[in-house]
Amino acid sequence: MNISNLKSRFPVFKKNPNLVFLDTAASALKVDEMIKATNNCYTNEYANIHRGNYELSSKLTKKFEDARKKVADYLNTSEKNIIFVKSATEGINLIASCMTKRFLEDGDEIILSYLEHHANLIPWHLIEKKIKIIPLGLNDNDEINYDELNNKINSKTRLITLTHMSNVTGSITNFDKIKEIARKQKIPLLLDGCQFAPHKKVDLKELDPDFYVFSAHKMYGPSGLGILYMKDRWIDEFTPYQGGGQMIHDVDIDKSTYANGYEKFEAGTPPIAPVIGFSSSLNFMDEVDPNVIYDHEMNLHDYAYEKLSKFNNIKIYGSNNNKGAIISFNIKGVHNSDLGAMLDKKNIAIRTGHHCCQPLMKHLKVTGTSRISFGVYNTIDDVDYLIDSLDEITKILI
Ligand code: ALA
Repeated sequence: MNISNLKSRFPVFKKNPNLVFLDTAASALKVDEMIKATNNCYTNEYANIHRGNYELSSKLTKKFEDARKKVADYLNTSEKNIIFVKSATEGINLIASCMTKRFLEDGDEIILSYLEHHANLIPWHLIEKKIKIIPLGLNDNDEINYDELNNKINSKTRLITLTHMSNVTGSITNFDKIKEIARKQKIPLLLDGCQFAPHKKVDLKELDPDFYVFSAHKMYGPSGLGILYMKDRWIDEFTPYQGGGQMIHDVDIDKSTYANGYEKFEAGTPPIAPVIGFSSSLNFMDEVDPNVIYDHEMNLHDYAYEKLSKFNNIKIYGSNNNKGAIISFNIKGVHNSDLGAMLDKKNIAIRTGHHCCQPLMKHLKVTGTSRISFGVYNTIDDVDYLIDSLDEITKILI
């Protein structure tokens, strides 16, 4: 496979061949294989699953459960630990809600960091117990300050929940360091893998968190699907997050009992076609190889980083070590939203603003940044065009 140019696998480029898409961190473009599988599911295979004793339903039920196994194999874990939700955000809300019911008391503490996306902050603000949020600060390179962890853990710490890779700086969390300290105190660990999982191999046996979440739409897959991994202990001990069809054991008019395994968290008709489609996105990821994807994207990142660094009065946020292919920056005298709009006129898509990370923006003392983020389809030509366009735009604006 020619990794240096995979645009032909992404149908959007047929209609818009000159599109330079540098906003994969927000959502990735869609790969042909996934679109075909989703289309085929709706056109030829569709019926509700787990409920019909007719062929259409039983065949799709098998395909859906095979897709769960595919997701589990991709992550090197068991399908019994994979829960399908509507988004990674819903996955974190599910954990927060389930923890609140049985594991959190007023006065308990949760450790997170200033790099967190709102999806790993607000679920913890919303819970109906008076817990304390203890943030890990950032060092001079805007990476998590791991040295603070020992002092911030205490007998009230109930969870450490961290991004696996920052959606603003691309900084990758040193999970081994966190795990080493947290395991001694038996503190559960949640990793938000939304930005990491689409770009580098995730091996859950090796990582060994209690919870891992990510979303299909950032991995060349469909929107409306989040993947939640949970260790057996939590699947057994948590009670359901939502009630409805499929998650039951037995129902009376005034009471009910629930399924035991992951089924207890999948109330209602699941995201059937997205799961089928996502299985094909994973085939594509395997075909290219996530480690090859990482190297390809980091080559583009390093090339762009070097060229960007040469702009006058540019501030690039975060260090250039142990990271994924995301670069956030501001250029003095250029408002990020003006820059985004002017790049759009040149058919270049980037994200501007606070990136759903207001606490990080406050820490950086800015209201927003311009962010470029790479996907498997980006090329050196994309970077050259971006740099030439930035050059032209900054000459106009400054
Ligand atoms: N979390 C996504 C982003 O960083 C939407 O853009």
